[in-house]
Amino acid sequence: MHSSTLLEVKDLRVYFYTYAGVVKAVDGVSLSVHRGEILCIVGETGCGKSVMSRALTRMVKPPGRIVSGEVLFEGVDLLKLPEKELRKIRGREISYVYQDPGNALDPLYTAGFHVAETILAHSSSAKFNEAWGKAVGIFREVLIPDPEAKAKSYPHELSGGMKQRVVIATAVANTPKLIIADEPTTALDVTIQAQVMELIRGLRDKYSSSVMLITHNLGVVAEVCDRVAVMYAGKVVEEAFVEELFTNPLHPYTQGLLEAVPNPLKKIERLRSIHGSVPNMIDLPEGCRFSPRCPHAFQFCNKEPELVERSKGHLVSCWLYRR
Ligand SMILES: Nc1ncnc2c1ncn2[C@@H]1O[C@H](COP(=O)(O)OP(=O)(O)O)[C@@H](O)[C@H]1O
Ligand SMILES: [Mg+2]
Repeated sequence: MHSSTLLEVKDLRVYFYTYAGVVKAVDGVSLSVHRGEILCIVGETGCGKSVMSRALTRMVKPPGRIVSGEVLFEGVDLLKLPEKELRKIRGREISYVYQDPGNALDPLYTAGFHVAETILAHSSSAKFNEAWGKAVGIFREVLIPDPEAKAKSYPHELSGGMKQRVVIATAVANTPKLIIADEPTTALDVTIQAQVMELIRGLRDKYSSSVMLITHNLGVVAEVCDRVAVMYAGKVVEEAFVEELFTNPLHPYTQGLLEAVPNPLKKIERLRSIHGSVPNMIDLPEGCRFSPRCPHAFQFCNKEPELVERSKGHLVSCWLYRR
């Protein structure tokens, strides 16, 4: 393990056992998160990003089940940890920011209460007043205007952008080592999105936390990430530093994703899209899952390629780059 590695995921598999069949939502994900970095996870809807991120702290509900794999957090396998030990890590050392801030907040409690409660849940000594004071301080840090008054507000009294700041305040309340943000700006207006991204980057700088940022927006990736893992149909197909990924994408799926985004610096001829759609996760294609959509598919592709390092820090799973 790299000395700066905070989290290492090895061959993680999460399946849903439904009447229609076994949904292989996450089917052999391997990736690592380094200390202090922002790692983006990108990929089309349904490729397993959310399920993967929840499985890291075993938050998968039936009919879903973590079938195999390892999730090493500072060298400790979270999949083997007793639930009691895991609870100390979840919400304290690893915290989550979800897509829809409305759902993450309880309408019956004030904004400040959510943060104070999170602080109290992981501290044996703090008193409520103390935790409330800290909560107001965190509101100030996440740039909530008039933090004393806002802490006393109920969720319905706050705008979407403000609610997401409260959720982020809750996520950073115990200065976690890893913040997992799952499409944190999808439900927000474009101008607010940029502010929230700026905020997440600022908090990373301040606390040296690592961030796993899940997004389908390549603009966000280019703007805020250090490294990127591209997911396709339940697997990571490419992992690289952000500049490297944008200048030298290796996987045909990544190439397709980048070609489907308008480049403001280039005269637009025609935006290309990747033909076909994400495969049915119950009945996955044999071999490389992208092969039915891949313009370069050839006879090797009926076998599943492994994720291998092609150059320093640049990994890809594609037979085009076989040694
Ligand atoms: N509770 C569930 N029951 C059955 N299938 C599920 C369930 N939750 C997620 N899935 C399936 O798992 C796959 C991955 O979902 P998800 O991780 O939410 O994708 P993403 O976040 O990349 O859009 C999808 O095919 C989805 O239909
Ligand atoms: Mg999702």
